[in-house]
Amino acid sequence: MFFARELLSRGDSVSSLHVTTIEKYHRFSDIAEVNFRSNRLDNIIELVRGDAGYYLSSLDATVKFDFVYIDGGKENYAEYFRSVYSHLTIGGLIIVDDVFFHGDVLNSTPSSPKSSGVLECLSISDSLEGCYKCLIPICNGMLLVLKLRETDAAS
Ligand SMILES: C[S@@+](CC[C@H](N)C(=O)[O-])C[C@H]1O[C@@H](n2cnc3c(N)ncnc32)[C@H](O)[C@@H]1O
Repeated sequence: MFFARELLSRGDSVSSLHVTTIEKYHRFSDIAEVNFRSNRLDNIIELVRGDAGYYLSSLDATVKFDFVYIDGGKENYAEYFRSVYSHLTIGGLIIVDDVFFHGDVLNSTPSSPKSSGVLECLSISDSLEGCYKCLIPICNGMLLVLKLRETDAAS
């Protein structure tokens, strides 16, 4: 809702704005649906009920994102990152949340599948060319990746 409100505040026409959010569990997507409607954002926010990996892997190649925020299913961060990077516009930005995962990514062998997933995502972004990358050490760490040109490095 924050992203949708921010887009609205720029004064763009509602028909040009589109936010997609993916939620796997019904108990959360039901709450989100009510909130989007009661805040009159349901005409801008598309709620996808299901698994993010499945949704992202089945996207048509013509679908493009200007901005992507990744913050769920840490075990599969690498898969999500690869998928969304291939759909990112030039000048588009990905923010990946919780990339330090409580410091576990700094252990020589991460202790959980979640931190292994986060570490793999970091390593993919590290080897990417044609983009600007920045790690912000706030909270659990945020990775910012700004795409500057097309490459096949994320494949
Ligand atoms: C940390 S919360 C996201 C919070 C959100 N960024 C916010 O500020 O409201 C992670 C969410 O991802 C959902 N999730 C976990 N695995 C998922 C998957 N494979 N596909 C879609 N959603 C998933 C969880 O149910 C949870 O609601």
